[in-house]
Amino acid sequence: MKTLFVTGGAGFIGSALIRLLIAESDWRIVNIDKLTYAGNLESLADIADSDRHVFSRTDICDRAALDALFAEHQPAGVIHLAAESHVDRSIHGPGDFIETNISGTYTLLEAARAHWSALDPEPKATFRFHHVSTDEVFGSLGATGLFVETSPYQPNSPYSASKAASDHLVRAWHHTYGLPTVITNCSNNYGPCQFPEKLIPLMIHNAVSDKPLPIYGKGDNVRDWLYVDDHARALRLVFERGSVGETYNIGGHNEKTNLEVVDTLCALLDELKPRHDRRSYREQKISVADRPGHDQRYAIDAGKIQRELGWTPQETFESGLAKTVRWYLHNPAWIAHVISGEYRQWMERNYGDRQ
Ligand code: NAD
Ligand code: DAU
Repeated sequence: MKTLFVTGGAGFIGSALIRLLIAESDWRIVNIDKLTYAGNLESLADIADSDRHVFSRTDICDRAALDALFAEHQPAGVIHLAAESHVDRSIHGPGDFIETNISGTYTLLEAARAHWSALDPEPKATFRFHHVSTDEVFGSLGATGLFVETSPYQPNSPYSASKAASDHLVRAWHHTYGLPTVITNCSNNYGPCQFPEKLIPLMIHNAVSDKPLPIYGKGDNVRDWLYVDDHARALRLVFERGSVGETYNIGGHNEKTNLEVVDTLCALLDELKPRHDRRSYREQKISVADRPGHDQRYAIDAGKIQRELGWTPQETFESGLAKTVRWYLHNPAWIAHVISGEYRQWMERNYGDRQ
């Protein structure tokens, strides 16, 4: 049985990827996660009994700990998701983003390179380092056009700049040292187990908690939404069959304004969990101060991964959003456990500033 390292496996996308790999592959997974505020082992409850999942609470900035893990488990590859991931937090405090996303990726690359360099020819030839990145590295689109793999990098937030820097490190480690890398750049994900600081889970949680639904600015910013399990399927495909040195864009073909997303969520909630007064959740929408440097529009051309690897999303926005809303309504304990003191402080800091 071959071993795969997944970093950030207690986060939103990493936990979806591990659930998929345990259910549909024979990989043994070593899940390397520091368990920041965003990491939650309850997201892996479905696979808690699997002897193919090993968890290690490790910071990717800790080179000695990474070296020990590589020596112990001899992985055949790495899928690297560990990151600070929330744009608003990067605006309030960029330091953690520089540390984990840039220094952490550098440290992981060096540990992986040391391991890979010492491998015998066959495992050396098939080893892969898969870096999971974002479409935000390409900056902001106007009303038309799509991001392709060759779009210029124009990151606008501390988060996207740190992810862009990490992409460049991965590219350089391939070109300079020959480390067999692949990179994926994906659009906005949604689905179960997403921390309720991001648009969709925050709106669901606030709606049913009788709280305002805070729309930044005019609400006309556009994101291209992808159901998280479709992203996980794409990641598996690129890791197992992608060409070394290549990058692949992943997107949902689901461009929506933020107002469209929130209105669709409200309509679903009106049906699935009507308010006591029978009025619509839409009445809870409020306009708040815009995000500084707010990117206007993201949209992905996912033609390359479709042509070369045969990937297309299985969920429509409607089917994925309905699954997501149902999951949050049926899992109040998951939400209750992540709404810690730290979460309340964050809400006060981010939304208090916007009044
Ligand atoms: P998340 O914030 O939900 O999870 C991040 C995980 O990384 C957490 O479990 C956290 O504990 C862990 N982590 C953070 N710092 C760490 C460190 N120093 N060492 C070890 N573990 C650490 O993030 P997510 O939304 O699941 O995103 C995962 C990856 O996918 C990120 O690299 C992100 O940039 C990328 N991405 C996210 C989206 C999206 O819409 N969420 C879209 C495209 C790409
Ligand atoms: O595009 C991929 C990126 O998508 C990932 O790389 C990031 O990790 C992920 O967080 C996400 O970034 P966004 O900034 O697009 O996602 P967020 O959910 O924070 O915001 C989505 C949109 O909704 C954005 O235009 C800001 C707006 N928004 C967000 C929040 C939290 C609001 O209007 N109100 C809010 O309260």
